[in-house]
Amino acid sequence: MSHSSHIILGDVVVLRPPTRVENVIYSAFTVRDLDNADARDVLGTRGSFSRLLFPASPPSRGLGGAMSALAFAAAAPSHARGSARANRVARGNPASVVTTSTRARASASPVAAATTLADEVRPDFTILEQDLPDSGKRLVYLDSAASSQKPSAVIDAHGDYYRHDNANVHRGVHYLSGKATDAYEAARVKVANFVNARSDREIVFTRNASEAINLVAYTWGVANLGPGDEVVVSVLEHHSNLVPWQLVCAQTGATLRHVGLRSDRGGIDLNELENVLKEGNVKLIATAHVSNVLGCELDVARVAEMAKKHAPRAKILLDACQSVPHMPVDVQSLGVDWIVASGHKMCGPTGIGFLWGTSEVLESMPPWMGGGEMIQDVFMERSTYAPPPARFEAGTPAIGEAIALGAACDYLTNLGMDRVYAYENELAGCLYDALCSINGVTVYGPGPNAPRASLAAFNVENLHANDVCTLLDQAGVATRSGHHCTQPLHRYLDVNATARASAYIYNTPTEVETLAEALRDTIQFFKEINGA
Ligand SMILES: Cc1ncc(COP(=O)(O)O)c(C=O)c1O
Repeated sequence: MSHSSHIILGDVVVLRPPTRVENVIYSAFTVRDLDNADARDVLGTRGSFSRLLFPASPPSRGLGGAMSALAFAAAAPSHARGSARANRVARGNPASVVTTSTRARASASPVAAATTLADEVRPDFTILEQDLPDSGKRLVYLDSAASSQKPSAVIDAHGDYYRHDNANVHRGVHYLSGKATDAYEAARVKVANFVNARSDREIVFTRNASEAINLVAYTWGVANLGPGDEVVVSVLEHHSNLVPWQLVCAQTGATLRHVGLRSDRGGIDLNELENVLKEGNVKLIATAHVSNVLGCELDVARVAEMAKKHAPRAKILLDACQSVPHMPVDVQSLGVDWIVASGHKMCGPTGIGFLWGTSEVLESMPPWMGGGEMIQDVFMERSTYAPPPARFEAGTPAIGEAIALGAACDYLTNLGMDRVYAYENELAGCLYDALCSINGVTVYGPGPNAPRASLAAFNVENLHANDVCTLLDQAGVATRSGHHCTQPLHRYLDVNATARASAYIYNTPTEVETLAEALRDTIQFFKEINGA
């Protein structure tokens, strides 16, 4: 390594002097090319400083070669993890820099003492029965807002479809095609029942929630929006509920507006929304039911009431990605026109999501993608289209995935969504209290007296979220750092990135305590490193 004040590795500037701790070099780095979207995505930040751990004896790939910021950022932590852990284990170092107290695991909190929902479901999630290879720490999965784990029943439903029923749907007279079609359509009924739709014809299978939003944007949006019309979103939207509206507004000449947060930053400012609606130009309100960062829950009834009063022609799209998996959602009582959700966040597989829309609105929407399945009659010059939902499901669908999503709905229904919601409320309280009890930790979103989802985005004073999550991972705790696909929200909060812990039915209060201990250890580690 060079002895100058810094070294440059591709887009990454590693600042000197690195500190050697055990057999790990600890160094600060920043990214030169702020327009490198890939790097930003990994770093979850715009040009902020971060720190990286990497082995003192670099692996054969070496640190001196030209590496892109992405390669460096992606590769270094995993090298660091492997080496640092291996070193600690090999030396039998009893005081590893990040420890997880076995005492915390053994101690039963008041909530854990009774048989909890997590106790009941845990055997269904065998993936959680693993220790991390080098540290031997038991995996604590707190990243379910990104993607949930899948119970055995869902994995089996997926496998059983391919083992016993696999054939294309809707197109065959043979036995297997009939079986596959029946199972696929039965899954649609299960999803419809799960959200209390009036009919299974109101459920359109999509690849994920993003595709469902794009479907509405490019069908209803393109057909109904024009100059003078307004689409209103909020500053906390996931990019999937923002970028499609940016694109469609640009295409149609409609105006995209957004509302901010309340002064306590615990949720969308509904007074501001009301004022925008009063101006009379809003044709669509598109917003999240539960924020994937703040964990706040939208007062949907109030939004629907305001829309009815001030903007009666406005439609409402609810991004229900973070609500459908966690609470009872009854589309008939929400008062909205569409909801979208992703299967992979609700115990289902990836590659499947759904759009619910009222029959009236779905029937009014033109097709989006053309192909098989979505047609009625095709002539050389023109075609007529199938009624919904087939109109919006061009080509061979994700059959096995839809069936497995149906199994996920069965699974959650059997647990009882009221019970899921109540249990997660408890977890949400544990998470909030545990994080707030640690000095230097800021938790974003509503305070203790408002409803909170069982997730918490947080920052530690003077530490970058990537570093925090990297060290938490070394303690076996899987969390996520970055902007969580909400860059505008992070700018609004004036932070580059946040760390996020998100729990689900299989997590326990004891695991939340493990997170808190690991976080305390992480903070202590950085204090020692910085000579504080
Ligand atoms: C609130 C919210 N909306 C939309 C999405 C996009 O979901 P998907 O990537 O499955 O389309 C997510 C995923 O994190 C989300 O949390």
